[in-house]
Amino acid sequence: MQTDSTEPRGALTIRTLAMPADTNPAGDIFGGWVLGQMDIAGSIAAHERVRGRTVTVAVEAMTFIAPVKVGDVLCVYTTVERVGTTSITVGMEAWARRNRQADRVKVTEGRFVYVALDENGNKRAIPPL
Ligand SMILES: CC(C)(COP(=O)(O)OP(=O)(O)OC[C@H]1O[C@@H](n2cnc3c(N)ncnc32)[C@H](O)[C@@H]1OP(=O)(O)O)[C@@H](O)C(=O)NCCC(=O)NCCS
Repeated sequence: MQTDSTEPRGALTIRTLAMPADTNPAGDIFGGWVLGQMDIAGSIAAHERVRGRTVTVAVEAMTFIAPVKVGDVLCVYTTVERVGTTSITVGMEAWARRNRQADRVKVTEGRFVYVALDENGNKRAIPPL
């Protein structure tokens, strides 16, 4: 699903700093940490759209394009791609600002699906906008 772009697509949803505790044995940032940040960003976007609690039901796509380094600022951009009856699909891109400088590089792309839940944890219909 990798798209060629020089500008991030979507709304900037989270920014966070890649720390030494999040590295793999090679010294780069662990992919699971990046995926987790994307899941957090996607859940924020989904929560805002469905106006309530959501749960991740699927990671439909996930591409690691470039490594994330310690000290990078990871910026995750989200786009609501589809709203179903109870589910919502969020596309996301993560970009890294190297050494906290202005230049940035796209490091991942993904597409996650969330389901809207009611207060009892049961799926519920997503209200119209
Ligand atoms: C999410 C959950 C409540 C859905 O319950 P369910 O009875 O299986 O729901 P359904 O099969 O009717 O699917 C609900 C919606 O999710 C979508 N969906 C379900 N599985 C999916 C999958 N693998 N990929 C994409 N969409 C999926 C369905 O298409 C449906 O969408 P729609 O209502 O917009 O048409 C249930 O599967 C669950 O609790 N899963 C665990 C979630 C979780 O704990 N996540 C965190 C993991 S750490």
